[in-house]
Amino acid sequence: MERYLLTALTSCLFWNVFGFSAAMGSKPNILLFLADDLGIGDIGCYGNNTLRTPNIDRLAREGVKLTQHIAAAPLCTPSRAAFLTGRYPIRSGMASNNRYRALQWNAGSGGLPPNETTFARLLQQQGYTTGLIGKWHQGVNCESFNDHCHHPLNHGFDYFYGMPFTLQNTCQENKPPELDVALQANLWLYSQIISLAVLTLTAGKLTGLITIRWKIIASFTLAGGLFFISWYSSYGFVQYWNCILMRNHEITEQPMRLERTASLMLKEAVSFIKRNKHGPFLLFVSFLHVHTPLFTIKKFLGKSRHGLYGDNVEEMDWMVGKILDSLDKEGLKNHTFTYFASDHGGHLEAQDGSVQLGGWNGIYKGGKGMGGWEGGIRVPGVFRWPGVLPAGMVIDEPTSLMDIYPTLVHLAGGMLPQDRVIDGRNLVPLLQGRAQKSEHEFLFHYCGSYLHAVRWHEKDSGAIWKAHYVTPIFHPPGAGACYGKGICPCFGEGVTHHDPPLLFDLSRDPSEAKPLSADTEPLYDTVIKKIGRATEEHRRTLTPVPEQLSLYNILWKPWLQPCCGTFPFCWCDKEGDSTQSL
Ligand SMILES: *[C@@H]1O[C@H](CO)[C@@H](O)[C@H](O)[C@H]1NC(C)=O
Ligand SMILES: *[C@@H]1O[C@H](CO)[C@@H](O)[C@H](O)[C@H]1NC(C)=O
Ligand SMILES: *[C@@H]1O[C@H](CO)[C@@H](O)[C@H](O)[C@H]1NC(C)=O
Repeated sequence: MERYLLTALTSCLFWNVFGFSAAMGSKPNILLFLADDLGIGDIGCYGNNTLRTPNIDRLAREGVKLTQHIAAAPLCTPSRAAFLTGRYPIRSGMASNNRYRALQWNAGSGGLPPNETTFARLLQQQGYTTGLIGKWHQGVNCESFNDHCHHPLNHGFDYFYGMPFTLQNTCQENKPPELDVALQANLWLYSQIISLAVLTLTAGKLTGLITIRWKIIASFTLAGGLFFISWYSSYGFVQYWNCILMRNHEITEQPMRLERTASLMLKEAVSFIKRNKHGPFLLFVSFLHVHTPLFTIKKFLGKSRHGLYGDNVEEMDWMVGKILDSLDKEGLKNHTFTYFASDHGGHLEAQDGSVQLGGWNGIYKGGKGMGGWEGGIRVPGVFRWPGVLPAGMVIDEPTSLMDIYPTLVHLAGGMLPQDRVIDGRNLVPLLQGRAQKSEHEFLFHYCGSYLHAVRWHEKDSGAIWKAHYVTPIFHPPGAGACYGKGICPCFGEGVTHHDPPLLFDLSRDPSEAKPLSADTEPLYDTVIKKIGRATEEHRRTLTPVPEQLSLYNILWKPWLQPCCGTFPFCWCDKEGDSTQSL
């Protein structure tokens, strides 16, 4: 009897282990595509019938499509921090409580803290060769121009080629730069006030009217000088300071030449796959597309039905196709776990006159920059792994971009860090159809460090409740965006606080058109109470950490400027003319 049991147990164990690993193969390669500012309504397989995205659509056809895939933040820097760490950005200090919610310069001191552990680091420890090609936007240096404390190579990537920062209009000549006029005026004012103070103090010291040490006067002079340089550099030099390309620690182009960047990125991605085809590898292709200035090669210019924006989306989709082709060519398709997503919703306010330069968020309200409204955070999410994940499956359960973290660690056979909270959940059971329900009961929707809304997935009823505590005030009213303001604010005069909160059931009202009230919804009070308790519980798991986006940390600091040459003479072009146009 005992022996039977033992045999049964062993064979069960054997079959579990064997069955599992046979299905999963040995460690799969991992290929992640992350678009910048792409809206969920911009893609064919999410219902767009005029923009052509055949390659992303093919991924969905051959794999699993998520319809409720949620970014942890509505803006690049925090959303990507959460993606890389599997944690809400507020846990790593990457959520801001001021107006500057993303890193502004390569030469700021803020960034993803060195003690955060990215999925790349954990995969590296599992024997993966890890590469990042494209946008980083998680900081570069802390204390000197080459300490690289926030750099991808310090965060688990073996190889980096791309922009440590992000695209901005400044990177393309003849585009109106999105200069922050208020910031500029402030910098000018500060430099003037400090100069005045220095003059007064010096005069006072020389005449003996003021007792003050020269050291202090020198510090004032330095500070004034910094403000002046910051103000000065915001004209014309920004392109040199921010628009650079690096290969590992080396700057290859300063400033970068946009007309060949896409082809260089493509070449790098294909050659990374070739170099590492014996795997396992992790390749994170972090597109500069479809962020303004929407630089697009001739082949796609004027070809879409949606202007420059549509052209740029189609170019990106073509790049996805090229990279998938190279997987096929190397015979790696069935051995690669592939993912496509966007870092957050489309940028509604990106316009040039009446021409739309930002993405489309389909039926969802709001967009980039808005923490609570669905349009800012609901993004495409597609997975493919032929033979392991079913083809053509659609999952409506709530999932998060933070889920990629534990999912990859699971696939690589690693362990999650035990010394910190991980907010993501392993998606493999859901993607394989072995689980019907997402493990997320609550998702918290932050705008900077301000909690704007909370989603409750009530598993029994299937309802998706969302309570909004704070919403941005649209401009003009009812516009669904803050036109003329860049993006909507998270706090202050530009938001409305709701007490009682606005409540929606997204399963019945995905566009968040009609708020429910105690009169129209019998469950209103119960739901609000339940969400309130979950929020308190969540708040108790937060601990104060250094703020990476504090005013001090986001300030441009000349001594942190990555520079190809001798500061301030920073320029180089190490690619030569080695790449022809595509
Ligand atoms: C397709 O995308 C374009 C560009 O963002 C948008 O203007 C258009 O409304 C979308 N079409 C549909 C049917 O969603
Ligand atoms: C890849 O997987 C698919 C789906 O299971 C299968 O039909 C195909 O034959 C596989 N290709 C190779 C080369 O093994
Ligand atoms: C990283 O260091 C900061 C500052 O010392 C600390 O507050 C934080 O908890 C640390 N984070 C982790 C994940 O250990």
